[in-house]
Amino acid sequence: MGEAQFLVSLLLQLLWVAPVEAEVPEVWAQEGAPVQLPCRPTIPRQDLSLRKGGVTWQHLPDSGPPAPGSRPVAPSGYTVLRLAPGGLRSGRPPLQPRVQLEERGLQRGDFSLWLRPARRADAGEYRAAVSLRDLALTCRLRLRVGQASMTANPPGFLRTSGWVVLNCSFSRPDFPASVQWIRGPGRVPVQKSPHHHLAGSFLFLPQVSPSDSGPWGCILTYRDGFTVSSMYNLTVLDPEPSVPLTVYAGAGSRVELPCHLPPGVGAQSSLTAKWAPPGGGPDLLMAGDNGNFTLRLEAVSQAQAGTYTCLIQMQGQQLNTTVTLAVITGQPYVRKE
Ligand SMILES: *[C@@H]1O[C@H](CO)[C@@H](O)[C@H](O)[C@H]1NC(C)=O
Ligand SMILES: *[C@@H]1O[C@H](CO)[C@@H](O)[C@H](O)[C@H]1NC(C)=O
Ligand SMILES: *[C@@H]1O[C@H](CO)[C@@H](O)[C@H](O)[C@H]1NC(C)=O
Ligand SMILES: *[C@@H]1O[C@H](CO)[C@@H](O)[C@H](O)[C@H]1NC(C)=O
Repeated sequence: MGEAQFLVSLLLQLLWVAPVEAEVPEVWAQEGAPVQLPCRPTIPRQDLSLRKGGVTWQHLPDSGPPAPGSRPVAPSGYTVLRLAPGGLRSGRPPLQPRVQLEERGLQRGDFSLWLRPARRADAGEYRAAVSLRDLALTCRLRLRVGQASMTANPPGFLRTSGWVVLNCSFSRPDFPASVQWIRGPGRVPVQKSPHHHLAGSFLFLPQVSPSDSGPWGCILTYRDGFTVSSMYNLTVLDPEPSVPLTVYAGAGSRVELPCHLPPGVGAQSSLTAKWAPPGGGPDLLMAGDNGNFTLRLEAVSQAQAGTYTCLIQMQGQQLNTTVTLAVITGQPYVRKE
């Protein structure tokens, strides 16, 4: 084949394939959220009689990765929902009642299909065949299902004055046209401030405080009008004492080294703390009493002085605080018999 011939054939192929591929409009959905697959064909007013019309929605799933150990199979289409001319419905049973047509829409010639909610396996091509008296119309679209997520770096609990970057994302190749950050159950918009640095789909909090605990949300809006939202529950947690503390005790006296979670935290769960004594002795285990892991030492001696670390294991993360015990031996301690 000569070069010119090749180019002509390539051009013909492009002309043949490209317009057909490009014509199928894309509709995006967020996994777990409802999505409408639009089908509003232009119908002459007199033909809008649903007693005589019907609609059939078909789905040709995207071929996902084959299950391990199985041969890949070509995806096959199936009928998602059929509204027979008499108004009777049928479809693949497991999909019902997640798949819906809207009665009011149908009366207006809107045959859009709702998936409540969209699932990953719903991705693929959809075709709707609308038949009205002697008129046949079709709708065709490709549904893409993406996942929204919000992650925090560093993940997990934060201590007061720590920093965090929240990363809001949706698995779609193009960039969102706008990103809005909201916080709290009241969905209050987050404004740029010395404590809130907004940079596209990132939010940087340079210095968190306990009042930053709670839900943070983001709303991504794309050029085609599609929006997704995601949220993250931030937890700022400082075990007490929140600053290094020194406890003074006379030799032979009883002493309490405090270590507890803020009120209300860890009250329900049965948590245990590990106290690491100075000098690398064996750890002392303390069962929490409503998040209180205070260590009680009887008749302390100079040998017990030093820095104790209280380590609380909670939701796979370790929180710690330190208390230094100073034992005063200036005056001889007189034991009362
Ligand atoms: C933000 O999150 C997305 C999705 O989890 C990830 O692909 C991306 O690498 C993250 N970006 C940064 C800077 O961490
Ligand atoms: C957020 O986290 C806090 C503390 O871990 C918890 O009490 C609260 O129920 C969480 N809220 C949501 C919406 O998950
Ligand atoms: C923790 O328990 C100790 C007794 O073991 C008590 O003296 C202390 O007041 C408690 N602290 C809090 C914050 O409840
Ligand atoms: C205590 O927690 C801090 C972070 O808050 C960490 O850097 C440090 O290594 C921890 N200490 C121990 C003994 O786990």
